[in-house]
Amino acid sequence: MDAPGNVLIFDTTLRDGEQSPGASLSIPEKVKLARQLARLQVDVIEAGFPAASPDDLRAVQQVAEALSDLPNAPAICALARAVRADIDQAWEGVKFADHPRIHVFIATSDIHMRDKLRMDREQVLSQVRDMVAYAREYCEEIEFSPEDATRSDPQFLHEVIAAAVKAGASVINVPDTVGYMTPGEFGDLIRGIVKNVPDIERTIISVHCHDDLGMATANTLAGLLAGARQAEVTINGIGERAGNAALEEVVMALRTREDAYRLHTTVDPSQIARASRLVCNLTGIPVQVNKAIVGANAFAHEAGIHQDGLLKHRSTYEIMRPEDVGLSESRLVLGKHSGRHALRERLAQMGYELDPERLEAAFDRFKELGDKKREVTDADLEALIADLFYRPREVYRLVDLQVVAGRSGMPTATVKLSGPDGEEHIRAAVGAGPVDATYRAIDAIVPASARLLEYDVHAITSGIDAQGEVSVRTTNGTRVFRGYGADTDIIVASAKAYLSALNRLLTSKDWRKDEQTVSG
Ligand code: KIV
Ligand code: ZN
Repeated sequence: MDAPGNVLIFDTTLRDGEQSPGASLSIPEKVKLARQLARLQVDVIEAGFPAASPDDLRAVQQVAEALSDLPNAPAICALARAVRADIDQAWEGVKFADHPRIHVFIATSDIHMRDKLRMDREQVLSQVRDMVAYAREYCEEIEFSPEDATRSDPQFLHEVIAAAVKAGASVINVPDTVGYMTPGEFGDLIRGIVKNVPDIERTIISVHCHDDLGMATANTLAGLLAGARQAEVTINGIGERAGNAALEEVVMALRTREDAYRLHTTVDPSQIARASRLVCNLTGIPVQVNKAIVGANAFAHEAGIHQDGLLKHRSTYEIMRPEDVGLSESRLVLGKHSGRHALRERLAQMGYELDPERLEAAFDRFKELGDKKREVTDADLEALIADLFYRPREVYRLVDLQVVAGRSGMPTATVKLSGPDGEEHIRAAVGAGPVDATYRAIDAIVPASARLLEYDVHAITSGIDAQGEVSVRTTNGTRVFRGYGADTDIIVASAKAYLSALNRLLTSKDWRKDEQTVSG
C-alpha cells in the first residue's frame, strides 16, 4: 500500500464534497456513492464528520458497515475537531470498519487561531499533543491536519506537526484550506516539512488542496512531486466554495504523465465516468461541459483539422482514450426489446443489485424509455435509477402534464398531481415559456412557497432522442432545496426536478441535511 511510488487516494466527496453548497446527500445516497468509490478502488473514504449531526454519525456508521464485507475495502475515515467529544463521535462512526481511521484537525494560522479559535500557539500545541494521543487510544491510524497550513508560520507549522507525529499520528495532511498557494510555493512547503520535522519519514504526508484560484490539481501534483504520498480529492472536484482537487484530474495526470511524475495509484480509471455521473445525479450539481476528463466535451473534437487528424491517428489530438475513464461502454447497451434478465445483468454490472420489486419498477421505466429511445445507455440507466430510487419521499407526484407552446400565443401548461392523501389535483397556468407555465401550475397546487434560484438542463447522451436531465435549486427564503429529474421530454424532466425540490422542502424535517443557509 505504501510502496515508494504509490500515491494513496483519499476521497473526501462524502465529507468535504458534501460541504459544497446544495450538495447534501441522504444516508442511502451516501452508501450508494461509497460503494462506487470502493469499485473505483480508492484507498480511503472520508465518510463524514460525525460530530456535526446525528445523521452524519449514522451515515459514517452505515458506510463503514456496508463496505466491511468487501475484500480490499478502503479505509473508512471520520473527521473530528481536536476535542474529545468529536473524537468520541468519530470513533463511534468508524469502529466497525475493517480499517478505521480518525482524522483530527485544528487550525494553525495566526488568523484562524486568533479570530476563530481564540487560542494562542501554546494552547494549540498542547491540544494537538493531547488530542492526537487521545484519538490514538481508540485507533491505530490517526491522520492529523493543521487547518490553513498554507497561511501558517512555517516554523510553528513544523512544531505542530512534530508534536502530532510524536503523539502518534501516522498521516500528516497539509491543507491549503483557502486555495491560496501557487504550485511552486506548495512544493516548497512540503519539502520544508520533509526536511525540518523529526521522524516525519515514519508518516505518510498527505495534501489537501482547494480550488479558489483554480490551482487545486496543480498544487496537489506539486505536493506529490515534493514527497507527499496521499492526495485528498473529490469526484468532479466538488467541495467547499470553489471545490477540492478533482480525483479524476489527479489520477489521470499521474497515469498519463507517468514519465514526468513516476508515481501511480491503484484506482481503476474505468470507473471514473460512472462515479462522476453518480455524483452529478445524487448531488444535482452538473459538471461543466469543458471540465477535464469528465466534461461532455472532454473527448469531443469539433474543429475539422482535429477531426481529420484524429481519424488518421487518435494520438494526434487525444492524450487519453475515452474508454480509459469508462466512457466507451456508455454507448449502446440495451434496446427496447431487451428483457428483464438483460436489464438485471446490466444493472448488476453497474453495481445495482435490485430486489424483485425494485427491478420490476426499473423494468417498467426502462420499457417506457425504450419506446422513446432507440438505445438505452449506461448513462440513461444511471439517471433512471437516480430518478426512481434516490429522491425524497413523494408528497406530490406528477401524474400528467400537457403543454401548449410555440412562437405565437401564450405558453400554457396543465398539470395533474397526486397529493398526500392520494387525491388528484389539476391546474393550468400561463407563463413566459413552457417551463415557467409548468412551474406556475405546480405552484398553484403545492402549498409550499419556493423561489427558483437555479435551473440547469442538459442532455444525458447525444442524439435527437436523448434524455434530458434537469437540476434545480430552490429556496423558501432561509434554506436551499435541490431537485433532479430525467426524461426524454425536458418539460417533464423540469416538472419532476421542481417537484422533487418541493417535496424535499415539504419533508424537510426528515431531510434536515438538505438545508443550507442562503447567503446572497
Ligand atoms: O480544507 C481543510 O482545511 C479541511 C480540513 C478539515 C482538512 O477540509
Ligand atoms: Zn477542505
